Amino acid sequence: MRKSLIAGNWKMYKTPGESVEFVKSLIENVGNHTDRDILVCPPFTSLHAVSRILSKSSIKIGAQNVHFEDEGAFTGEISTKMLIDIGVEYIICGHSERRNIFGESNQIINKKVKKVANAGMKPILCIGEKIEERERRKTFDVLRTQLQESLDGFKDTSLLTIAYEPVWAIGTGKNATPEQAEEVHLFIRSVIEKMFNKNVSDEIQILYGGSVKPDNIDSIMKMQNIDGVLVGGASLKVDSFCRIINYKI
Ligand code: 13P
Repeated sequence: MRKSLIAGNWKMYKTPGESVEFVKSLIENVGNHTDRDILVCPPFTSLHAVSRILSKSSIKIGAQNVHFEDEGAFTGEISTKMLIDIGVEYIICGHSERRNIFGESNQIINKKVKKVANAGMKPILCIGEKIEERERRKTFDVLRTQLQESLDGFKDTSLLTIAYEPVWAIGTGKNATPEQAEEVHLFIRSVIEKMFNKNVSDEIQILYGGSVKPDNIDSIMKMQNIDGVLVGGASLKVDSFCRIINYKI
């Protein structure tokens, strides 16, 4: 059976010093797990220091964004080459905050996921509908387009993780119900199986993200097609993140 993946996206929180304190405490408190992987995605400025500490543990490290070129005149950007060098394994691509605040299109995200996989790293492709799209019953159309355009020409399914993050559930305290998420995860799996023309359920993990908390993690992880979670706010405190990691089904 595939391992589950419990990932924390710290967004623009924690200085390098705070990040180091956090991961030291996480290592002490997290316990041993053979059936689940744990991932933290700190801001760029914390990656190097956190990576050094995590190299002695089984906790994995990811970045929240990347540029699709190796190097060049791209002021303010960071490349896969730089991230590999400091031990980063996963990269979140196309988070809804990147799409909606910074204008990233499916075409840009497509270049990023391909670049990440070409570099031998693991992209976590985020997709999700807005509330008005759900209300107009456009959820499946939006997600299908995001998948098809963001994964156009993508081949390395063994490196790919998908995160379903309904925009209306992010940071709102209003999570999708486990049944709503399960229905969408089943749909996502059917779309990617058609796209890649094979059974990908042993390769591609599909995570749920959006107001995941200690009090809803157990019911979310009980769903058969939910392979893990991408957690924002509740991943910023060691006790709540550990409770999420220690989910019981
Ligand atoms: P919250 O868990 O704070 O809702 O954020 C979810 C998210 O955006 C993770 O990438």
